[in-house]
Amino acid sequence: MGYRIVVVGATGNVGREMLNILAERQFPVDEIAVLASRRSLGTEVSFGDKTLTTQDLDTFDFTGWDIALFAVGSEATKIYAPKSAAAGCVVIDNSSLYRYDPDIPLIVPECNPEAVHGYSKKNIIANPNCSTAQMVVALKPLHDRAKIKRVVVSTYQSVSGAGKEGIDELWDQTKSIYNPTDDKPAKKFTKQIAFNVIPHIDVFMEDGTTKEEWKMVAETKKIIDTSIKVTATCVRVPVFVGHSEAVNIEFEDFLDEDEARDILREAPGIMVIDKREDGGYVSPVECVGDFATFISRIRQDSTVENGLNLWCVSDNLRKGAALNAVQIAELLGREVLKKG
Ligand SMILES: NC(=O)c1ccc[n+]([C@@H]2O[C@H](COP(=O)([O-])OP(=O)(O)OC[C@H]3O[C@@H](n4cnc5c(N)ncnc54)[C@H](OP(=O)(O)O)[C@@H]3O)[C@@H](O)[C@H]2O)c1
Repeated sequence: MGYRIVVVGATGNVGREMLNILAERQFPVDEIAVLASRRSLGTEVSFGDKTLTTQDLDTFDFTGWDIALFAVGSEATKIYAPKSAAAGCVVIDNSSLYRYDPDIPLIVPECNPEAVHGYSKKNIIANPNCSTAQMVVALKPLHDRAKIKRVVVSTYQSVSGAGKEGIDELWDQTKSIYNPTDDKPAKKFTKQIAFNVIPHIDVFMEDGTTKEEWKMVAETKKIIDTSIKVTATCVRVPVFVGHSEAVNIEFEDFLDEDEARDILREAPGIMVIDKREDGGYVSPVECVGDFATFISRIRQDSTVENGLNLWCVSDNLRKGAALNAVQIAELLGREVLKKG
């Protein structure tokens, strides 16, 4: 016997990717329901070789369903996730709404799988921010060996991290640059994104950081270790899919770059591509559709004690969202629900 699964936000970037990944990983699904807003009632989405028709989230009854994978943004999640949880259908949520609630586990299965048992307090599990997910997969095995003191990270985040509207804005604006009569001013982003970079993601906080940067700090602490200091600069770049990160790490103990490379080669969810030659590293277009988080440019940082630099690239719709959510569902199934 398998699971009765609900995908909430099935017409969105993350929702569609969740359906692809459930099919690719042959998740034991007995029945699947796909939900979106009333606007897209009846829209067809693919699940393996099947075509499914979306239903209205507002009128859906979660009773009798096992797991709901939510990818609808915080506002809709606030209304509908508690309904699912109260009906006994465990929520795995992609929005930021529940990530910092001490009674809700925030899980990256490669890092803190043991946290899954905390799901029962509220019947909800949170999925981290896309930039955090790929970074902690790389940090955790290094932390286990040499204890991380501080991380300085700069991100290069693709427009798909801002949903369907982000993708459309880059596409339309890029075309309009060549056709000046068809001006496409910034709408989803705060400045022109075509042929530009924008050092601003999510809202500004009082101290001058942005919420996206704050999320990387708070989530790394919750997932790996509260003692790790993180400082981040998050930047939107004109790439459709795939987030990149330049990560500088300071450890308690010395960690040689060759040993770090070996540790990462063995670590779950990581693929090391690190040749010191033209093209011997991964760029975002190459990671699209992949499950792995790719690590390149591993090198000692001799300007600080026990320092290391690396380059980290992953498909933000996969490890940053849909894949991690499906991995959590697999973990919940294996450790708790035990069907399939
Ligand atoms: N993209 C990423 O890299 C990423 C990474 C981590 C987390 N997330 C999070 O995942 C969530 C979804 O992101 P996305 O990129 O997939 O966004 P998206 O492409 O804009 O899709 C949004 C989805 O939510 C549905 N929706 C919105 N409001 C709704 C409502 N009131 N009732 C029912 N359905 C509603 C939309 O349905 P309609 O088609 O009917 O409008 C659509 O299916 C967000 O919370 C986002 O922060 C995204």
